[in-house]
Amino acid sequence: MKSFYLTTAIDYVNGSPHLGHAYEKVLADVIARSRRMMGDDVYFLTGTDEHGQKIQQSARAKGVPTQQFVDDVAAEFVALTKLLNLSNNDFIRTTEPRHKQVVRDILQQLFGKGEIYRAEYQGFYSTRQEQFLQEKDRLPDGRWPEIFGEVTEITEANYFFKLRSYQQWLIDYVTAHEDFVFPAHRRKSLLEFLSEPLNDLCISRPKERLEWGIPLPFDENYVTYVWFDALLNYYSAVIEKGRWPADYNIIGKDILIPAHGIYWPIMLHACGLPPPKTLLVHGWWSINGDKMSKSTGNFIDPVAFCQDWKVDSLRYFLIREMTVGADSDFSMEQFLVRYNSELANNLGNLVNRTINMTTRFAGGVVPAAGPAEDAERELQQLWTQTRDEVFRLNAGLQFHLGLERTMAFVTATNAYIEKRAPWKLAKDTSPAGQALLHTSLATMAEALRLAVTLLWPVMPTVADKVRGGLAQAPLARWDGELEWGIRLAGAKLQPVEILFPKPATEKKG
Ligand code: ME8
Ligand code: MG
Repeated sequence: MKSFYLTTAIDYVNGSPHLGHAYEKVLADVIARSRRMMGDDVYFLTGTDEHGQKIQQSARAKGVPTQQFVDDVAAEFVALTKLLNLSNNDFIRTTEPRHKQVVRDILQQLFGKGEIYRAEYQGFYSTRQEQFLQEKDRLPDGRWPEIFGEVTEITEANYFFKLRSYQQWLIDYVTAHEDFVFPAHRRKSLLEFLSEPLNDLCISRPKERLEWGIPLPFDENYVTYVWFDALLNYYSAVIEKGRWPADYNIIGKDILIPAHGIYWPIMLHACGLPPPKTLLVHGWWSINGDKMSKSTGNFIDPVAFCQDWKVDSLRYFLIREMTVGADSDFSMEQFLVRYNSELANNLGNLVNRTINMTTRFAGGVVPAAGPAEDAERELQQLWTQTRDEVFRLNAGLQFHLGLERTMAFVTATNAYIEKRAPWKLAKDTSPAGQALLHTSLATMAEALRLAVTLLWPVMPTVADKVRGGLAQAPLARWDGELEWGIRLAGAKLQPVEILFPKPATEKKG
């Protein structure tokens, strides 16, 4: 069995989960579930990033002890994994002892090897970004860009990690490994960024300024810079499982440079560890064409959304709408277009027709198919093409197109039903008419079984409910399940609840 280890970014617990968090986790889950269906030994990690200034500030603003604050918000993120039906194997919190210990061990190891040194630093510091700034960060008019918030000049002793001494190694590595960053244009940006000299990375914060962090093992007056701590989650979670390196580190576009594209591979290399095989970088969701923002109300709360609409409908929309690597926009209008035309009126319709017609015309038991004629042969051929194409598309992370193709097969199956018109064949009592009726019922049931089996990674609950309706066990592996086999003869169909109900009031987002 091929071992496959994938991770998501770990979310900051200074605010509740939003649609961007939900998307990234669903994307990872779709990949994890697909790989398991293909027979891989998958390990899927997600979690929360709980240290640093922003979190200490948010807790203080709320007047809650920091530990309690992070416990409360982390619980929301754990609840989100359940709500989204994620198949993660582990959930790591950076405040857990198992993580803190690994961070301290690695710091000690790097300090011992001389990769970390102490130096006096004088310069500008952005509290909001928890980052030291350089002259080149200034705007042409000398001011600091707004993203840095308040910038203050400070002088203090700190600890630095020798990033610069690994710059050439990293350039060579990224140049030699085309798969290191997906999509390709992000790899290009990383190489461009690396064409300018790097500074060493300040990895400490004095305790007077920031208490909420992991103390440095070699100087307890300091805590660890939050990114140095957070990145190590991918390793600390699996150190005893022998899973490193990750096959995919899935992240959003804002955290490739410098954190995941520079700090992370260099930290690993300095410890004698290989980088992740691929940094899979997704784009960002806007909402109604604008930046999502809780304060302006341009916001989708994934928890509320899943209460109004079933989780699989959200999962479907997120994966169908966004091209992995590009940005996308979420609007209620666009959600409803896809919900109605692709889910309710296409897939939902096929489920209802298959069960209703088999009940009415064959006592609820899938009949044995007679010989295939042209219409059946065409649908079977389309299936084989669709399945092979979907596998090719998914291998290239083009899940949105994979879903489009699968839904085109569902559309073709509905068209097949129109063409055969079993309600007319039912009135034809000749042996030929009855044989064709049976063939059409068997064909639609088989096509439905195949379609939902292929859709399983994106809509596991829907797929297993439909499979249950077709008297099939919940899916465990794709092996042998994606072959057209008319294998349902004799299956006693069960009622399936309405999968895509029309809500009484269609809420505007
Ligand atoms: O960056 N659309 O946490 P975070 C899509 N703790 N994805 C989005 C998004 C949007 N509108 N907004 C955010 C952090 N994301 C760090 C990560 S990893 C060692 C530490 C994505 O809560 C974002 O790109 O700000 C990131 O991948 C993830 O959500 C968590 O963002
Ligand atoms: Mg962020």
